[in-house]
Amino acid sequence: MNITFIGAGNVGAALACRLAEAGHHVVLAEARDGSPTVAAALARSSRLRRAPVEEAVRAAEIVFLATPFAANEPVVAPLADALAGKVLVDCTNPVGPGLAHGLKSERSGSQVLQSLAPKARVVKAFTIYGFENLEDASYPAYAVLPAMLFCGDDGAAKALVGQLITDTGFEPVDVGGLVQALHLEHMTLLWVRMVRAGGHSPGLVWAALRR
Ligand SMILES: NC(=O)c1ccc[n+]([C@@H]2O[C@H](COP(=O)([O-])OP(=O)(O)OC[C@H]3O[C@@H](n4cnc5c(N)ncnc54)[C@H](OP(=O)(O)O)[C@@H]3O)[C@@H](O)[C@H]2O)c1
Repeated sequence: MNITFIGAGNVGAALACRLAEAGHHVVLAEARDGSPTVAAALARSSRLRRAPVEEAVRAAEIVFLATPFAANEPVVAPLADALAGKVLVDCTNPVGPGLAHGLKSERSGSQVLQSLAPKARVVKAFTIYGFENLEDASYPAYAVLPAMLFCGDDGAAKALVGQLITDTGFEPVDVGGLVQALHLEHMTLLWVRMVRAGGHSPGLVWAALRR
C-alpha cells in the first residue's frame, strides 16, 4: 500500500520502518522545513522516501498522523481537501496535565481530528502502548500475539488498517466505531500511568483471550 506519515518521531519512525520492511511504499511527509525527525528516520531505513506534505498526502491511500496532539489542528486543517477519502490513522493522544485526558474526557481526540478533516476516514490505532512495542511487537514466549485495539466508523478503512496491524506483528482487535476512541485514549493513559509513572515494564502489552 502507499502510506504517508505525518510525524516521524518515536511513533512515526517506528511504524514507518516496520511497514516499509513489510513491503509497503512509505513516504515521510515534510510537514516542517528541515525536520530533524524526518532526516533521522530516513537514515534508519533506505526504503523510506520523503516528499512535501500535500504531495505526500495526495499520493497516499493511507495517511498516518503521529504528531503531538497540539499540532493536529495546524497540521491537518490545511490538508482537509487533500485528505478527503483517505484513510487517516490517528496515532495521537490528547494528554493533559497530571496524565489526565487532554480534552477533559468530554470528547476524544479522534473525534476532534475527524472534525478537522470531515471527509477523511479516521481510524484510531497504534495508540495504546508506548513506541517501544511499535518498534518490536515480538513476544516469542507466548502463543498469542499482543492485541492492538482500534476503532473507526468506516468498515473498509478498518479492514485496511487491520491488515497493517497484522503486518506490524499485532492481533487486530476492532472495538467498534469512532465513539470508542475516548475509551482507547483512557486505555492509553492507564498504560502510560502504569509504565511511565508506575514502574511497570515498557514491554507490557495486552492480549485478547477468548472462549
Ligand atoms: N511516545 C509514545 O510512546 C507514544 C505511543 C503512542 C502514541 N503516541 C502519540 O503519538 C504522537 C507522537 O508521539 P511521539 O512520541 O512520536 O512524538 P515525537 O517523537 O515528539 O515526534 C513528533 C513528530 O511530529 C512532528 N511535529 C511536531 N510538531 C509539529 C508541527 N507543528 N507541524 C508538523 N510536524 C510537527 C515532529 O517533527 P519535527 O522533526 O519537525 O520535530 C515529529 O516528527 C503523540 O500524539 C503521542 O501522544 C506516543
